[in-house]
Amino acid sequence: MLAAPCHAGEVEVLHFWTSGGEAGALAQLKTSIRSKGHAWKDFAVADGGGGLAMTLLSSRVMSGNPPTAAQIKGASIQEWANAGKLANIDALARAEQWDALLPKIVIDTMKFNGHYVAAPLNVHRVNWLWVNAAALKKVNAKLPTTWEEFFTVAAAMRKVGIAPLAYSGQSWLDLGTFETVVIGIAGADFYRRAFMQRDPAALDSAQMEQVLLTFKRIKQYTEPHNKNRDWVAATASLIKGDAGMQLMGDWAKSEITAAGKVPGVDILCTAAPGSSGAFTFDIDSLALFKVSAANQAAQQDLAKAVMGKDFQQAFNLAKGSIPVRQDVKMDRFDECARQSSKDFAASAKRGTLLPSFTHGMGLPYATTLAIWDVIRQYWNQDSMSAKEAMRRLAKVAAQAPAPR
Ligand code: GAL
Repeated sequence: MLAAPCHAGEVEVLHFWTSGGEAGALAQLKTSIRSKGHAWKDFAVADGGGGLAMTLLSSRVMSGNPPTAAQIKGASIQEWANAGKLANIDALARAEQWDALLPKIVIDTMKFNGHYVAAPLNVHRVNWLWVNAAALKKVNAKLPTTWEEFFTVAAAMRKVGIAPLAYSGQSWLDLGTFETVVIGIAGADFYRRAFMQRDPAALDSAQMEQVLLTFKRIKQYTEPHNKNRDWVAATASLIKGDAGMQLMGDWAKSEITAAGKVPGVDILCTAAPGSSGAFTFDIDSLALFKVSAANQAAQQDLAKAVMGKDFQQAFNLAKGSIPVRQDVKMDRFDECARQSSKDFAASAKRGTLLPSFTHGMGLPYATTLAIWDVIRQYWNQDSMSAKEAMRRLAKVAAQAPAPR
């Protein structure tokens, strides 16, 4: 056995990658860290989307005992950095040439006041519709490209005994569905105005009413589920063909491939209805907390491993996302990942790369929570009108901190 190097330390990593496919992707990182002689302490929180993980993280940081790194994203990175809790990893980033390797949107997300404080793992696309190919064939339909087409396909599936839309009880899915409908019905500019800028005129508009009505119309096509069912079980139902379609980010692919199915063949991918010109992004990253001197070398090795070229390929092949490093070749990736990579570049040029606020990008976390609350109530309460939801969204917007 090799002796551990003298700089061996421990990395404790908080994450919510507990599904079979996602845990498999993370295993690559654990192996790499252990091979450097460090101990990996897993701080796994089973809660896709991460709400509970964020609460546990806060209590650990507030009690002065932060993990080495946490799977937090976007605006939360800025918030923790602003509170003085994150480590500066500029020296490593410079040595490894991150500025040259990463797309601008990723660089901006990983830096606070111009300094790197987090290491990026991937880019997930959120606005996807996954369709079971056999189910689609059974109803002799084409992939829906608009919401009206979606409802036609959904009704046809229901007629032949297939649950149209795989669904779960995790309420971040309600918010994610809503976010996707906003783009599909009202477009990228509207999404920015209504949510990033919180323009009252956009929130109180005929378009917003149309969005909310379409969102609610989806509910009748969702597969029966109980509140404990998670997205992984919903994806399993899509894979089996019990359900025909699913609105989900491309982490669904980690389950599809782990089940031995081929994305783009057995389970088709297409941009969520009406949203093919836009790309809602969710950049997974590990924010690096200030840790004791004994564990700083291990922390640096973790950040370096995350950006390693081979790791980026292996991790993203398993995770369903695309690499953040622009020098990783896409030839080993499936059709959906290659499409995602092309659409990411095209949307960056077109100005339609949109932060997914459901997945922690683009909005202060507290603002997301407040929007989420309104959407959850609107989705669950049959008696709440679209107009009432609009009124509540406007109230949230008025109370939220001014957009940056
Ligand atoms: C997202 C995260 C993905 C995936 C998903 C479901 O927020 O960025 O990597 O884990 O939640 O858990």
